[in-house]
Amino acid sequence: MSRAVIIGTGKYLPDNIMTNDDLSNIVDTSDEWISTRTGIRQRRISTGMSTSDLAYEAGLRALNKSGLRPEDIDLIICATITPDYFMPSCACIIQDRLGAVNAAAFDLTAACTGMIYGMVTAEQFIKSGMYRNALVIGAETLSKVLDWEDRSTCVLFGDGAGAVVMAKSEGDGGILTSNLEADGSKYDYLTCEAVPLENPYVDSGITHKVPRIRMLGQEVFKYAVRTITDNINTLLSRAQISKEEIKFIISHQANQRIIEQASKFIKIPIERFYMNLDLYGNTSAASIGIALDELVSGNEIKKGDKIILVGFGGGMTSGSILLEWS
Ligand code: COA
Repeated sequence: MSRAVIIGTGKYLPDNIMTNDDLSNIVDTSDEWISTRTGIRQRRISTGMSTSDLAYEAGLRALNKSGLRPEDIDLIICATITPDYFMPSCACIIQDRLGAVNAAAFDLTAACTGMIYGMVTAEQFIKSGMYRNALVIGAETLSKVLDWEDRSTCVLFGDGAGAVVMAKSEGDGGILTSNLEADGSKYDYLTCEAVPLENPYVDSGITHKVPRIRMLGQEVFKYAVRTITDNINTLLSRAQISKEEIKFIISHQANQRIIEQASKFIKIPIERFYMNLDLYGNTSAASIGIALDELVSGNEIKKGDKIILVGFGGGMTSGSILLEWS
């Protein structure tokens, strides 16, 4: 049976580090509050690079590690909620910069679940036989849509990009099973408006037109804990394997307490949940790709290891992938 395997990973983060102490000079907050409530100690904030710039750098690194040439890539998917333009897509800009002249390219929006939605989408093209090689990138410059006067949101997020190259394989391993979910009835838990309707017939009356992230923090927290545990249980049951067989779980990196509660509810030791949110904060669609690249680059994942990737975010959306490393 043919499967989609990961043959290259990459990440890219802006150089500029904003610590919790730096943030306390901007809003009424403290390192103590942010680190005890979230586990976040610092984040990277772009001082000029756009989402497609970050995505290109992460994608290039993943491509180099895969050993493929740019022209071997058949599909580029960029998962983002902070594109450079409504049109063209970030994926088309990346295609041009990489010289991936044979690739179809589009952006995908599933907020912080974007990397999972992107990888599962690419997997379908690969398994169907339509494409052999796909580059999936999660990239964000969330700093441009944060309300820097709202301490309940601006302390949580950061900028960055993570990428994987996926390829068709007839061997063992790769994506064993996956799960995608959405619950639009909770759409108002996490929002970032687009431009208002304004035309010769409509005066929106809105003067402040820069989109900003708004969030019902405690509702999101509960949704996240529940969907992490539900997604892991769904994958284990579909694949008929036990939780003891899972080497690592890479959850979307939003809040250390969310991951700790999920670990407690599902009774999988916290040591098996990879965490780097202390360094980068919540980078939305980028977080899972960044974490996977760090585990791979640190030689922490060996052939045959089973890993779960699990995401949750605006929409509300959630999703997960069970991988066997090959
Ligand atoms: N610094 C200092 N105080 C802050 C603060 C900050 N950055 N942000 C909020 N507070 C204050 C609030 O004003 C409130 O004060 P009050 O009691 O005087 O009214 C108090 O801290 C508690 O706020 P609350 O919202 O109840 O805190 P919380 O324990 O629920 O933690 C979050 C807030 C945002 C950290 C938490 O709800 C969370 O992580 N939710 C999930 C968010 C998320 O992951 N979003 C992205 C998902 S993809």
